[in-house]
Amino acid sequence: MSLPALRTFEQRIERQLRLLELKKTIIERNIGRHIRLFEQRRDDIGKRIEDQIRQFERKRGIRLDDEVRFIRSWIERPLSIGAVTPSSKMLARAMARYVDPHSDGPVVELGPGTGPVTAALVEAGVDPSRLVLVEFNPAFCRILRTRYPSATLVQGDAYSMRRLLETLLLQPAAAVVSGLPLVTKPMRQRLRLIRDAFDLMLPGAPFVQFTYSVASPLPRRLSGFSVEASERIWMNIPPARVWVYRKN
Ligand SMILES: C[S@@+](CC[C@H](N)C(=O)[O-])C[C@H]1O[C@@H](n2cnc3c(N)ncnc32)[C@H](O)[C@@H]1O
Repeated sequence: MSLPALRTFEQRIERQLRLLELKKTIIERNIGRHIRLFEQRRDDIGKRIEDQIRQFERKRGIRLDDEVRFIRSWIERPLSIGAVTPSSKMLARAMARYVDPHSDGPVVELGPGTGPVTAALVEAGVDPSRLVLVEFNPAFCRILRTRYPSATLVQGDAYSMRRLLETLLLQPAAAVVSGLPLVTKPMRQRLRLIRDAFDLMLPGAPFVQFTYSVASPLPRRLSGFSVEASERIWMNIPPARVWVYRKN
């Protein structure tokens, strides 16, 4: 290529780069505007739902504080909360039914939220001092600390359970009960979670998980594991099913 031709080529490339830069700035500005609009709308929707709940409370003479807290957290982080309301008593009891209250060792609960499953476990006879609650939402942790002062509360990421609990558990866990929105995570991460859970548990101890989805959140044919499922629990928003995994 001759020198003048090279110069023209360079100028053309520079012009295109400047144009690209300009387009990038416009796109960034647009994205920023959409995010701001979305956040504004999200807050409005949140306020509207909260107002409706408060009206309902006044009419019925009841308090739904946990539901309001839950909705607020869901609005802030929909994917990590994974539900718009706490689990119903029916679902919580169905989860607790798979835990033997007379077994030995701690009972670990992952993602207890405002504590409906925790309450069902205690109601079923699990001593609150055996409970190890792993929750990363600080507002939920404050509630759990007041409601279950004798339980061990770990404010942290349940997916780092191995590191968080390895030295904390003085004996193998009798069960791991999970309310985590597992299906929002890649399968590799779910499998790592259940393997870590089994490493902390007694042989044959249950890993209890609920899900709103139709399918099992973990493969049904995991080698070395047995899987069972409850009936669909319709008295929950949305209806859910409990899956129980055991290492053979
Ligand atoms: C679907 S809600 C279930 C709450 C409660 N167990 C119930 O049944 O109402 C999921 C809960 O898991 C918590 N969570 C989600 N990801 C988590 C993580 N990586 N570590 C700890 N907690 C987590 C959320 O903050 C929320 O409390």
